[in-house]
Amino acid sequence: MSSVSHNKPKVIIDCDPGIDDAIALVVANHFSEIIGITTVAGNVPLEFTTVNTQSICELLNLDVPIHSGASHAYSKQSVTAEHVHGDTGLGDLLLPKPENKIVSEHADNYLIDITKQENDLTLIALGPLTNIAHAIEKDPAFVSRIKSITLMGGSAYGLGNATASAEFNIFADPEAASIVFNSRAPIKMIGLNLTRQVQMGIEHAKILSENIGNRVSKSVSTLLYSYQNLISSSTGNITVPMHDPCAVLAVTHPEFFTFEKRNVIIELDGIYTRGMTVVDERKSSPPINCDVGYQADSENLISLIVDAASTKN
Ligand code: BDR
Ligand code: CA
Repeated sequence: MSSVSHNKPKVIIDCDPGIDDAIALVVANHFSEIIGITTVAGNVPLEFTTVNTQSICELLNLDVPIHSGASHAYSKQSVTAEHVHGDTGLGDLLLPKPENKIVSEHADNYLIDITKQENDLTLIALGPLTNIAHAIEKDPAFVSRIKSITLMGGSAYGLGNATASAEFNIFADPEAASIVFNSRAPIKMIGLNLTRQVQMGIEHAKILSENIGNRVSKSVSTLLYSYQNLISSSTGNITVPMHDPCAVLAVTHPEFFTFEKRNVIIELDGIYTRGMTVVDERKSSPPINCDVGYQADSENLISLIVDAASTKN
């Protein structure tokens, strides 16, 4: 493991938990200073993503403002992923009904306001980009007040999971993604080409439940077992990609990633390619709008995830 020392970056997390979002919150709680969390419809409907966020925060004893946001994509078409995350969004993990309350149902207004109050904020986006696009439409200067939007979404090389060519978070709301990618925000894109390099499996789930065995590690273990069961039934794969944790770690431990400057366009119309991130790999490409993640140091990233999940709260 590298000896680079880390100050905890201040982050806002926009998420749709989601099994890997939940693991990402555990990682972010350990390695960053979470200022607030916003929720969006995505893997499961908004009611579930919000209550799951509240429950995970209670599990972590994390007392931060939670604001729920958009229940529908710009197109009003609903795209969910219960086949990957289970009916509630957290697989077989059952957490007590949360006692904490959300602060508002206006995630976009919160994003606008908090960036006027706090400097040096990084926005980590782990779901469809609907809330962030709403914030940009209401206040285009919003993007000039953040250090970066580091998002899990899309892919280089045309890889898809929701469809052959589109990644879920972008496919679920391509119009929102297009607004974000055209906003001149400093964007770091952590796509499938990178997150598929960071795979965890049953061996890690066992370490967390048996060797470590505290409440957080056991919960992450249950999430990993569920994720593996759900994904293997559709793909046959025995390990699972750490999509959303990679986006958090790209902010907290950038030394374990490589990025290249690229122009990225969101396809809105294609019959077979709607929601695709078209990443221009030409040297003479049009103006750059994004840092695209290419290589991940999988071994070090997995140990960071295990470390974060092992810490007793
Ligand atoms: C992304 O889609 C969701 O299913 C995951 O939570 C992740 O954010 C991966 O394509
Ligand atoms: Ca997600």
